[in-house]
Amino acid sequence: MNVISTPVGQSVSRIDGIAKVTGQAKYAAEPHPPGMLYGVVVNSPIARGRIDTVHDAAARQVPGVVEIMTHLNRPHTALFEKAYMDGLGVPGAPYRPLHDGEIHFNGQPVAVVLAETFEAAREAAMLVRVDYERWPHNADFKVSLHQKYMPSKTRSNYVPPRPRGDAARAYALSTVQVEGRYHLAPEHHNPMEMHATTVIIEDDGAFTVWDKTQGPQAVQAYLAGALALSKARLRVRNPYVGGAFGSGLRAVYNVFLATLAAKMLKRPVRVTLTRPQMFTHVFRPEAIMDIALGASRDGTLQSMIVEGVTDTSRFEHNMENIVIWGLINYRCPNATADYKVAPRDTYTSSDMRAPGAATGVNLLEMAIDEMAYACTMDPLAFRLHNYSDTDAMHDMPLTSKALREAMAQGARHFGWQRRSMPPGSMRDGRELIGWGMATGIWDAMFSPTSARARLGQDGRLHIATAASDIGTGTYTILAQTAAEAFGMPLDRIDVELGDSTLPQCPTEGGSWTAASAGAAVWLACLSLRRKLIDMLARSKNAPPWVKQDTVTLEGGILHDVTENGPVSLSLPDALSLAGYDALEAEETAKPGLRGKISQMRKARFTHSAVFCEVRVDAELGTVRVTRLVNAVAAGRILNPKTAASQIRGAMVMATGMALHEESLMDERVGRFMNHNFAEYHIPTHADIPDMDVLFVNEHDDEVSPLGVKGVGEIGMCGTAAAIANAIFHATGRRHRNLPITPGA
Ligand code: MOS
Repeated sequence: MNVISTPVGQSVSRIDGIAKVTGQAKYAAEPHPPGMLYGVVVNSPIARGRIDTVHDAAARQVPGVVEIMTHLNRPHTALFEKAYMDGLGVPGAPYRPLHDGEIHFNGQPVAVVLAETFEAAREAAMLVRVDYERWPHNADFKVSLHQKYMPSKTRSNYVPPRPRGDAARAYALSTVQVEGRYHLAPEHHNPMEMHATTVIIEDDGAFTVWDKTQGPQAVQAYLAGALALSKARLRVRNPYVGGAFGSGLRAVYNVFLATLAAKMLKRPVRVTLTRPQMFTHVFRPEAIMDIALGASRDGTLQSMIVEGVTDTSRFEHNMENIVIWGLINYRCPNATADYKVAPRDTYTSSDMRAPGAATGVNLLEMAIDEMAYACTMDPLAFRLHNYSDTDAMHDMPLTSKALREAMAQGARHFGWQRRSMPPGSMRDGRELIGWGMATGIWDAMFSPTSARARLGQDGRLHIATAASDIGTGTYTILAQTAAEAFGMPLDRIDVELGDSTLPQCPTEGGSWTAASAGAAVWLACLSLRRKLIDMLARSKNAPPWVKQDTVTLEGGILHDVTENGPVSLSLPDALSLAGYDALEAEETAKPGLRGKISQMRKARFTHSAVFCEVRVDAELGTVRVTRLVNAVAAGRILNPKTAASQIRGAMVMATGMALHEESLMDERVGRFMNHNFAEYHIPTHADIPDMDVLFVNEHDDEVSPLGVKGVGEIGMCGTAAAIANAIFHATGRRHRNLPITPGA
């Protein structure tokens, strides 16, 4: 029989792949309800001030224009009430679209033109003229550093790291010292699909909102609060998401404005954002980290002092975990970290793939490389020498840490032992060859999640949970998990995601979906299987052999062996014998599921070791990344093919972080000026080498019910540093600013 008995762990191609490449997969801007209006947003060209007058007469003359919604004529809703709190946002006073005439940032929406056609809406939007009273603003990160602050505990979701020892004294006493300011430029997510919302009004007046989001239930909760709508009359859908990288964790203004307009005009509405509009609303904060490392001559770390600053808006405190990672990952008796945010008159910076760690791990791993060289130690040997088997910051045991194995396997695969230590010593003709490495660390999180499994009369298994597949392969791994738990061939499984009406699932992010939704699907399938066999056992019509303990469900068929030979029963027959049209089970996966109390008293992380080869043109200074090897320890890998794709995608992003991506602020107007793909550089195919991804065998039955840690973000962590460290090895020149550009 040609049945894959263990679908989990197989390199299965995406089950949603054909729908995506043939255009059958529907994205947020694609539903087209009859009578739909197109909304185009007009944005403020100034960063701070107040709207004096809105001149919309000319815009209203454009044929097809139905309404121009501004703060002056928008309907009043709960969002505009004083007590309103944005549950999805970060601490602070959330910005409220079209609240009043005050301008807080360049790119702030000041009007939405609603018209019968997109063309009319766009033309009219260009004719809306707004007079502003201009106030002084600051959008310069360097200037904002003078106002850096730490929000009070009650206004922050940030937990400061726990210091240990006396880091300042230990630093002063250290024989080897490395100290420097490291900098990361702001970056933009730029998913292929831009933010968009289509609001459909159902026959009974309820709203179905298609939104580009990572969390349909989170957007449902946001809209219910913002518009005082009952959740029962507000369904949010996002069955397909064209990439997000964190840009869809919060509700973006298009979803509020589209739903508000639909409510006001009682017509379906679609609002899509343009690429330049995306640049004003979602970006990884600019960061500086002042790092001081002290070590003894033998390469033992004695002190780590990390001080970080990132930007935020004037109205919200966006804080990331940028300074904690080294304190967790390295054994070092004296360590301290401090973190502040610097306010600017821009929109609030946001989570972007591995928020905090992409910044903090990469910048720290560049400093660690400097320290290894200062101790004249091989960078890999230095890391092994200072390896911590526990969470060194919390002094807590870990559920697992196969970083040592990742380092060993990555090094072997890369050929690290053939590296010669001195910078510039591995030349090939006019090219300088550099080999660098770094380690990565990211959270391995798990959140309570529910899922439903339903067996239909057609013999198909239907899986449902409100997870989102943001391009990560969630549909596929959940089908594999269901196949294994239930005993069903993959092609007889349907997975339904991206709908707020489905069983509760957290927003997709933080690399926790595979562990969380996977566990829920696993439990629901086991429960359904048990239910089916119990029903049959109690049924008068079922053959007696199904009552045996030895009955199995495999390949979508019930089997057993009796004294007369093998017997089997199809699932549709089993259902009819039990007297059911369909059978379903819903289960919730929670931490501590396997009775492991220790789970909450252990720290949980994913680790990686990244190795990189660069070739630098000795005369021109141009850099080519020619090899990347990433050895990842992420617990159980559900699907090596889609998991490796996640790591590769993140390594491409990290190559951009190391060499290309940089959003440049025009401080005079307070707006990122390179807000398009011509001027915001990202790696192209020619910039990306062959990338090898290895998954280290890591068994961990405490981290999450299935032993899964998640792989969406770990590929970012360490990769940019490995590239920077390889450039040093090639050239002997240290760069402390990312991206690294010739001459910078
Ligand atoms: Mo990710 S930044 O948690 O979507």
